[in-house]
Amino acid sequence: MTLLYQCPLCSKALSQQKQSLCCENRHQFDFAKEGYVNLLPVQNKKSKQPGDNLQMVQARRAFFATDHYVFLRQAIVNLICSYQPNTVIDLGCGEGFYTHAVANALAEQTNHQIYGVDISKSAIKYAAKRYKNVNFSVASIKQAPFADGTGDLLLSVFAPIFENELHRLCADNGTVLIVSPGPKHLFELKKFIYDDVQLHEPMATPNGFSLTNHTLIEEKQTIDSQVIEHLIQMTPFAWKFKDTHYQALKVHASHDVTLSFYLNEFKRA
Ligand SMILES: C[S@@+](CC[C@H](N)C(=O)[O-])C[C@H]1O[C@@H](n2cnc3c(N)ncnc32)[C@H](O)[C@@H]1O
Ligand SMILES: [Zn+2]
Repeated sequence: MTLLYQCPLCSKALSQQKQSLCCENRHQFDFAKEGYVNLLPVQNKKSKQPGDNLQMVQARRAFFATDHYVFLRQAIVNLICSYQPNTVIDLGCGEGFYTHAVANALAEQTNHQIYGVDISKSAIKYAAKRYKNVNFSVASIKQAPFADGTGDLLLSVFAPIFENELHRLCADNGTVLIVSPGPKHLFELKKFIYDDVQLHEPMATPNGFSLTNHTLIEEKQTIDSQVIEHLIQMTPFAWKFKDTHYQALKVHASHDVTLSFYLNEFKRA
């Protein structure tokens, strides 16, 4: 099946030649031995190691191994399957926990193509090594390596949102599914560091889209303190969690923690 990538340097279509992708201007991008392709030109790199670093990726993988987020993953898969999309792009896919489950669920559907894009090489390396049913690339989702209107379904789970790019990538009848934190997501953990925990607001509708559906899924789960450490490493407030907070956390072997997510579905306005 022809891959749908476009050249990050000149925006021409990329075609596969053995272990490389090439455009008509002879820009060439090689597949790594793990099976992913690096479509992030050095000149577009803002830092040496953009995106999540290895430690964060390992924390996320260790947390996902415990299955606490399986209910979220199942909700995402069910929703995506209901649209029967051909082309799914997971923007900021991390180590592919959701992406590969979507690919599994759509495996029977002919013409399906599942892409996972992340700027973190560590994340994509891990993803591509483990999950062979997804086309993974290291690339920026600010200038994603796909032509206009490529995505029947664009997925974004706790990843940065670039509204213009979402609009450009979304097919005319396509859907954007964005998972954002629900009101009390990780409330009990935030209480360790904030006196007054702010509840999450529903996300704003990205420009050029209208909200078509908005579902809140929530579970209170008992999570081992050691596993909670991995969970904290995945969050934006990880840097606020000091040694004293970790010690306080470890006083109990486990904690009841609220896991809460909005599944926001958008269509082009
Ligand atoms: C909170 S993580 C979520 C990862 C994954 N969606 C998940 O839920 O497991 C955010 C991800 O966005 C990626 N990211 C941040 N900025 C990016 C950019 N400009 N282009 C592509 N990926 C980016 C990070 O490397 C990281 O893997
Ligand atoms: Zn090119």
